[in-house]
Amino acid sequence: MTTSSNKQTFPVTTRAPAIVIGIQNWFQEVLSNSSKVQQWSANELDDKLHHLSHWSNFNAQGWRNFVNNTIAKLDPPMSSTKNFTFFELGVGVGAFSRRLLLQYPYAKGVGTDIVTSAVLIARTILPPDRMKLYTVTNNDYSMIDNNTIDHIIASGVICYFPSLDSIENLMKELVRIAKPGASMCFTMIPFDAYGKVSCNIIISPSFWSENRIRSLGIRVTSIQNMSEWNLPHSHHRYSVNLRKDIIT
Ligand SMILES: C[S@@+](CC[C@H](N)C(=O)[O-])C[C@H]1O[C@@H](n2cnc3c(N)ncnc32)[C@H](O)[C@@H]1O
Repeated sequence: MTTSSNKQTFPVTTRAPAIVIGIQNWFQEVLSNSSKVQQWSANELDDKLHHLSHWSNFNAQGWRNFVNNTIAKLDPPMSSTKNFTFFELGVGVGAFSRRLLLQYPYAKGVGTDIVTSAVLIARTILPPDRMKLYTVTNNDYSMIDNNTIDHIIASGVICYFPSLDSIENLMKELVRIAKPGASMCFTMIPFDAYGKVSCNIIISPSFWSENRIRSLGIRVTSIQNMSEWNLPHSHHRYSVNLRKDIIT
């Protein structure tokens, strides 16, 4: 496992703050003005689709950099020359998956989110022959067969889960759908630019190496400190990469 140097320290404990983010309301603020998204040109989508998923600080290049930084340490990496499948948990309006589909011509994806209005936008933008999209409210991913996904991504999502137990249950389901040897990547954004808690749960990087996760048959391959990505908002943020064991 490689761990990039710590420019910023991270709280050592995992804890749940007193607030609970109401995701639906949080989205309504930005999606209320999105009826024209279907008419946006490719350049407009590059510039501002991600703003609808609350990544409002990036221009088009910044968003590309963010996506590429996020997937840079996937183990194994995404292939530019071979077919592969990915699952984006918390796909939002599809900004992250859109970049993956543009950059990886042989990729096919599945995306889920709990916000129907966001998924409806993603459906109008992403090609239906390459991306299946679902609204899922109970973390039941039974529409995805066992051992079928090469890469699992959840960028800025699982810190909205209510508890560590719910994350453990999620991981069981992700292990079920992941192929042996598949990569998983989770980006954590527990604090806003001012150090204020912006999620429902703060997950320490060490959580991912605990036995409750390791015993599911996945191991940490790297942890990236997002403060090294030159982002405007990277305070105490990190991205963890994991890999499902290959059982021979
Ligand atoms: C910051 S947005 C990121 C969207 C997308 N991953 C991206 O990078 O563009 C967080 C997303 O997580 C979704 N989300 C939160 N809790 C979720 C859950 N339990 N299951 C699926 N999605 C969830 C929210 O609805 C929202 O779309």
